[in-house]
Amino acid sequence: MKDEFLSAMHLPEQHWDCTLDQISPELSYVSTIKDYVANIGDNLDKGRGLLLFGPHSSGKSALAAIALKAALVKCQKVGLWVRGSHIAGHKIEEDLYDADSTMYERCHEVPLLVIDELILRGTSKAEHFVEELIRERVDERGAMILTTNSTPRQLKDTHPGIAEVLIEAVEPVKIEGTNFRKKIKDGWSGS
Ligand SMILES: Nc1ncnc2c1ncn2[C@@H]1O[C@H](COP(=O)(O)OP(=O)(O)OP(=O)(O)O)[C@@H](O)[C@H]1O
Ligand SMILES: [Mg+2]
Repeated sequence: MKDEFLSAMHLPEQHWDCTLDQISPELSYVSTIKDYVANIGDNLDKGRGLLLFGPHSSGKSALAAIALKAALVKCQKVGLWVRGSHIAGHKIEEDLYDADSTMYERCHEVPLLVIDELILRGTSKAEHFVEELIRERVDERGAMILTTNSTPRQLKDTHPGIAEVLIEAVEPVKIEGTNFRKKIKDGWSGS
């Protein structure tokens, strides 16, 4: 996999080498993710995505990265990784993606958009831009993978507008059972 493509997708380097092989196959979500990745072309064509929710360090962002890499390798589709909290800044500041488009435009155009850490608190102008992007992508059948620590129920309670449109576009998958950061720490404390 060419590093230049991983950089073009803005995939954080810590997730470049993440694979499904490093996850215990008994965990219930693994087969759902494997199926999604196995059918990635069809899923992208139909605008089908995932809502990966669960506790910290359970590997949600890594799974989103695995799907982004699969889209590249299996379908030659260059997606984009964006942090939820940066979306409003991209819109307001008109940050450039390249000579032709801004980051916010790119967020609309890509065949797969990962929104990492969808954190929504109360209502604000910033959240309005996140909602606008999500609604437009759902309308255009643009596939999205979102990671969040909120449960679908919490999203529904706090942001019914976003939750309602996401129902059409993403399958909620609970990610739990491994603490990947603890694994990393244990490795460091070993002799
Ligand atoms: N399948 C995997 N293969 C290799 N490394 C992994 C895998 N899953 C997670 N990791 C690594 O473990 C660390 C923690 O995982 P990750 O960032 O995906 O957790 P998270 O659930 O998104 O946590 P948070 O809720 O804090 O964002 C990261 O550095 C990640 O790259
Ligand atoms: Mg994460």
